[in-house]
Amino acid sequence: MKFFIDTANLDQIREAQALGILDGVTTNPSLMAKEGIKGKDAILKHYIDICNIVDGPVSAEVISTEFEGMIAEADVLASLHDNIVVKIPMTKDGIKAIRYLSDKGIRTNCTLVFSAGQAILAAKAGATYVSPFIGRIDDSSVDGLDLIDQIVSIYQIHGFETKVLAASIRNTLHIVKCAELGADVVTSPLASILGLLYHPLTDIGLAKFIEDSKKMGL
Ligand code: G3P
Repeated sequence: MKFFIDTANLDQIREAQALGILDGVTTNPSLMAKEGIKGKDAILKHYIDICNIVDGPVSAEVISTEFEGMIAEADVLASLHDNIVVKIPMTKDGIKAIRYLSDKGIRTNCTLVFSAGQAILAAKAGATYVSPFIGRIDDSSVDGLDLIDQIVSIYQIHGFETKVLAASIRNTLHIVKCAELGADVVTSPLASILGLLYHPLTDIGLAKFIEDSKKMGL
């Protein structure tokens, strides 16, 4: 399973990269705005900065909602760097754009996916990745992990090549469960990635080893 970080914060991306476990990055307009980036040139430069930190797929999202606007933006984004994957929302125009870009050899990530039906359409259109939003589904009192299970099964049965990229990850359990369910990728905030490190028995055990090592005059 690939590990992506879900942020546009360069320090957090560097921190995850330094761990040696990072395979890629996902961003969205909300995450970019959170970094205080303003203006088209600054946005494009920020994507290049991210691509220069991580040698893997970097999802950059289009803002347009119409087909023509989406593909024009996608051309600009894809030409920035080989790592760029164009993120397209799950809409009628979005599906058309994914088909068009897929036929042109431009990689896409179909975002804002909340149902198996939407995931089937994304795969049929040739999306490289499909992004079901687990946390936001959980927020509506429905288990988002069930959707990951359903999409993974459907893609396996039918041999769809689209990768299941579990998004809207809120905690370490989401990551572990996605691994069990066979998601191809999880994209997580840094806190959830770092949360995987922690176990109280590790801390207790390490403290004891350090204490005992002192008895040997080390
Ligand atoms: O990047 C898309 C997705 O991961 C957003 O997550 O936490 O805003 O629901 P969240």
